[in-house]
Amino acid sequence: MLETIFILVCVLHLSASIDYYRPEQIHIAYGQNVQEIVITWSTFNKTQASVVEYGIGGLILTANGTSTLFIDGGSEKHSQYIHKVVLNDLTPNSIYQYHCGSNLGWSNLFYFKTAPDSSDWQPHLAIYGDLGNENAQSLVRLQEETQRGLYDAILHVGDFAYDMDSQNAQIGDEFMRQIESIAAYVPYMTCPGNHEEAYNFSNYRARFSMPGGSESYMYSIDIGPMHIISISTEVYYFLEYGIKPLVFQYQWLEDDLAKANLPENREKQPWIIVMGHRPMYCSNTDHDDCTHHETITRVGLPFLHFFGLEDLLYNYGVDLAIWAHEHSYERLWPVYNYTVYNGSYEQPYVNPGAPVQFTTGSAGCKEGRDHFIQQLPEWSAFRSSDYGYTRLKVYNSTHMYLEQVSDDKSGQIIDWFWIVKDKHGLYPHSKIDWAKIDKMRLKYLHSQ
Ligand SMILES: *[C@@H]1O[C@H](CO)[C@@H](O)[C@H](O)[C@H]1NC(C)=O
Ligand SMILES: *[C@@H]1O[C@H](CO)[C@@H](O)[C@H](O)[C@H]1NC(C)=O
Ligand SMILES: *[C@@H]1O[C@H](CO)[C@@H](O)[C@H](O)[C@H]1NC(C)=O
Ligand SMILES: *[C@@H]1O[C@H](CO)[C@@H](O)[C@H](O)[C@H]1NC(C)=O
Ligand SMILES: *[C@@H]1O[C@H](CO)[C@@H](O)[C@H](O)[C@H]1NC(C)=O
Ligand SMILES: *[C@@H]1O[C@H](CO)[C@@H](O)[C@H](O)[C@H]1NC(C)=O
Ligand SMILES: [Fe+2]
Repeated sequence: MLETIFILVCVLHLSASIDYYRPEQIHIAYGQNVQEIVITWSTFNKTQASVVEYGIGGLILTANGTSTLFIDGGSEKHSQYIHKVVLNDLTPNSIYQYHCGSNLGWSNLFYFKTAPDSSDWQPHLAIYGDLGNENAQSLVRLQEETQRGLYDAILHVGDFAYDMDSQNAQIGDEFMRQIESIAAYVPYMTCPGNHEEAYNFSNYRARFSMPGGSESYMYSIDIGPMHIISISTEVYYFLEYGIKPLVFQYQWLEDDLAKANLPENREKQPWIIVMGHRPMYCSNTDHDDCTHHETITRVGLPFLHFFGLEDLLYNYGVDLAIWAHEHSYERLWPVYNYTVYNGSYEQPYVNPGAPVQFTTGSAGCKEGRDHFIQQLPEWSAFRSSDYGYTRLKVYNSTHMYLEQVSDDKSGQIIDWFWIVKDKHGLYPHSKIDWAKIDKMRLKYLHSQ
């Protein structure tokens, strides 16, 4: 009897201490370029080391990283160590196995595939926003497709977990464990949404490791022929955290767009794509800002109209803008300032005269779906309130294909379209400041 109790106590003690050091919530992201992979995980106790063992066909390499104590802002001050390791000596187009942790505990074995190092790579992405811990309806299908190797990367366009800080950040932990089934296998690239706002976006900033050194607020990365820019639309709406992040981001974005338009860059990455959480246009029945004519992200701050994004996207020849926030899918005709600029009536997306935009915020969350007003606005092409997500495949410099998967309809494709561009660059009425681009060139050449 006593012996049994003794053994029981030992087992309990042992398992408790192992659990606290065991890595969980493993996820990966691109680093400063697609050949660099950042691996991120959590432990609840401090480990002496943060190590990834990895390799092609065996764990033959070791990389060390760092860990940071993250304390949630809630009353329990829930704490954890978040570990980050950068792998930057990878061989292109190879399948790597890895596990992470330390001598006190290792994760399961995972794998990822590195990007090919060739100009004919055709990246395939899954894209969605607004995925919660409860009612994460699209997650099963996404896991199946990710583990079958369908995607090169995933874009999560804001709003995670509902919310990561809920229940003293336990919901954040649970959510990060949930998405491990996809995010440990392909780069999981993010931007912040309104549900990340608590404690000045602290859960978002701590848990994700996006490139660019801005605590995952804003960055750009070249993925094959795409230059993908991720921004925070929340800097327009949570001004209680200061106007500095908004001003800084706007200037950064204009610089980044100017740099992306340098002929030598646009030649290699002709497709410029911007992703952010809250849309500029939507025809939903809720009274979100995108239902207003003067959406703040579109025209800028009230009255002053400083820092509007639509002019920036139009003037710098952005090809595609991706949004979420509305729990639905809506595809727009090429539009600028409420005027539709179809390439032609028959082929609106062949050489469109303005950025193409769509909203994909229906991955599934506890807040349910959003619905649409009855009338279809002139700028709106297709709408659906089905749960699901978007697939994007870029074929080459002229052809990009997008389709909308309905999870409600067992994976059926409910919308699809090609964007075709014989030539990328500025739109006909662009008011671009070429002096700015020249200045960018000097800065850029100087930094090389
Ligand atoms: C491990 O973490 C738990 C929970 O944060 C804490 O109660 C415990 O004291 C820690 N143990 C060690 C050995 O650090
Ligand atoms: C990683 O750190 C350990 C000590 O914690 C050290 O023995 C090892 O050589 C380091 N590996 C690399 C690749 O730096
Ligand atoms: C919130 O965080 C941003 C970016 O990290 C910082 O610039 C800002 O000053 C913070 N605001 C407050 C009120 O702490
Ligand atoms: C957008 O259209 C409105 C009229 O609806 C006009 O007043 C405004 O000047 C236009 N903005 C730009 C940047 O062209
Ligand atoms: C744009 O093209 C679509 C598809 O042909 C058409 O339904 C729509 O009316 C066009 N819009 C304008 C303003 O020409
Ligand atoms: C680009 O890809 C599309 C779709 O596969 C194809 O029809 C087209 O011929 C390709 N263009 C070039 C220049 O390779
Ligand atoms: Fe949102």
